[in-house]
Amino acid sequence: MNHFEDLKDKVVVITGSGRGIGKGIAEAFADAGSKVVITDIDPATAEATAKEIAAKGVETLSVVCDVSKKESADNLINQTVEKFGGVDILVNNAGTTKDGLFIRMKPEQWQMIIDINLTGTYLVTSAAVNVMRKKKSGNVINLTSVNALGVPGQANYAASKAGVIGFTKALAKELAPMGIRVNAVAPGFIETFLTSLIPEKMAEEMVKHIPLQRKGQPSDIAKPILFLASDMASYITGEVLNVNGGLNGVH
Ligand SMILES: NC(=O)c1ccc[n+]([C@@H]2O[C@H](COP(=O)([O-])OP(=O)(O)OC[C@H]3O[C@@H](n4cnc5c(N)ncnc54)[C@H](O)[C@@H]3O)[C@@H](O)[C@H]2O)c1
Repeated sequence: MNHFEDLKDKVVVITGSGRGIGKGIAEAFADAGSKVVITDIDPATAEATAKEIAAKGVETLSVVCDVSKKESADNLINQTVEKFGGVDILVNNAGTTKDGLFIRMKPEQWQMIIDINLTGTYLVTSAAVNVMRKKKSGNVINLTSVNALGVPGQANYAASKAGVIGFTKALAKELAPMGIRVNAVAPGFIETFLTSLIPEKMAEEMVKHIPLQRKGQPSDIAKPILFLASDMASYITGEVLNVNGGLNGVH
């Protein structure tokens, strides 16, 4: 049963969708019958995931894009418009970590995370909103994190993800008169490559603090994102939805 009938044939761009949460989001939109743009900095995973998604019988496009570079972000949206005629939904999912204690944090380590997680979200949104505003409709969903609250060793990541929350809320107010909704999702501990970098003992300890007593899966994040993108959420904008198995939320 498709609970998201209105997402059928909608054009959705999901950054960083070669693997992990982004891939899970792409699969869910494909199941709802959307036209899915798979884009990643890694050409191999972008291509492989686009092939898998196409096998579900929906139209796909695969574009290599580094969200932290303006030309690359503009090219992503231009190619999407060329193939599908517009962009209805943008999911700013591309993101990464480069953890380290603050006293040893190098300027490049700080800058890299701000460039990808925060500036990347701005650059792709800027290109997409230029297209959406002409249609006076659109939907932007940004990935922040439960760690926007701040955990040791993640000053750069927490700053970037807290920035995404402020960006989401300001943009929601600015774009509402143009018929564009902007929301964010703040995942907790989701099982992906990113969290496979956490030492096993530490990961086990973290799971003990999750009230629902398990790590999340990419599909646990994809479903709330489909909800926010759909007409079911037509009166929701500027919101941060915590999806974390009961851990403390980010607001
Ligand atoms: N996994 C978690 O527990 C968790 C928790 C909270 C928030 N998040 C956020 O969810 C998003 C997805 O994380 P994930 O766990 O799936 O990570 P992941 O590392 O498995 O996937 C991230 C994808 O983004 C791509 N990417 C990295 N840099 C890029 C760039 N400059 N341009 C384009 N693509 C780029 C990678 O190639 C990869 O395919 C991130 O924004 C992350 O911060 C994840």
